[in-house]
Amino acid sequence: MKLIHKAHGLFKTVLFPGDSAVDATCGGGNDRLVLAKLCLTPESGSLHLFDIQETAIVKTKKRLENSLPENVIPKIYYYNRSHVEMPPDIRPKLITFNLGFLPSGDPAVMTTPGATVVALARSFEILETGGALSVMVYPGHETGRKEAGAIDNWLSESFRGRVIVYRDSPKNHAPYLLWLLK
Ligand SMILES: C[S@@+](CC[C@H](N)C(=O)[O-])C[C@H]1O[C@@H](n2cnc3c(N)ncnc32)[C@H](O)[C@@H]1O
Repeated sequence: MKLIHKAHGLFKTVLFPGDSAVDATCGGGNDRLVLAKLCLTPESGSLHLFDIQETAIVKTKKRLENSLPENVIPKIYYYNRSHVEMPPDIRPKLITFNLGFLPSGDPAVMTTPGATVVALARSFEILETGGALSVMVYPGHETGRKEAGAIDNWLSESFRGRVIVYRDSPKNHAPYLLWLLK
């Protein structure tokens, strides 16, 4: 099973109709559609999507509006800004990070070690108890390797929750999934 499908399976173990969720690196792919289907109802739930690339936000908005019932669309909030600036009043059950760069976007725009660690620490603070952070890490390129190192340091020095790591390759540059439980 691909790691991304593993992540989607894990989402179902913590996120239920009426919950709030955050996609901290919304990009243009499938994660947010999975999140929306799990947590949004016409009456409750909310989905908060962050990306510093406006094109990613525009693409995601179009995709969601074409795929979801109209009555849940007002429950989706878009933030064309860094995930470091996540509002403290959101109380999500699940926050997802898919690190690195968007393959179909500008490869020079990627997540960075410093901002990622700050955003992960803030995310864990605002997360509901019983919730989780899902983090796809790509150590196969220079910035990704530094980012993975910074996350490891943060986990071993400051993190106070449960950590589960999923890998589908023994190679140390292969992507892996962190599932952090509060
Ligand atoms: C690997 S892509 C996400 C892929 C996406 N999950 C998908 O399935 O299409 C990483 C995304 O993070 C965004 N990004 C980079 N730094 C960011 C930051 N500080 N805050 C929010 N988004 C950021 C990039 O613009 C890019 O779209």
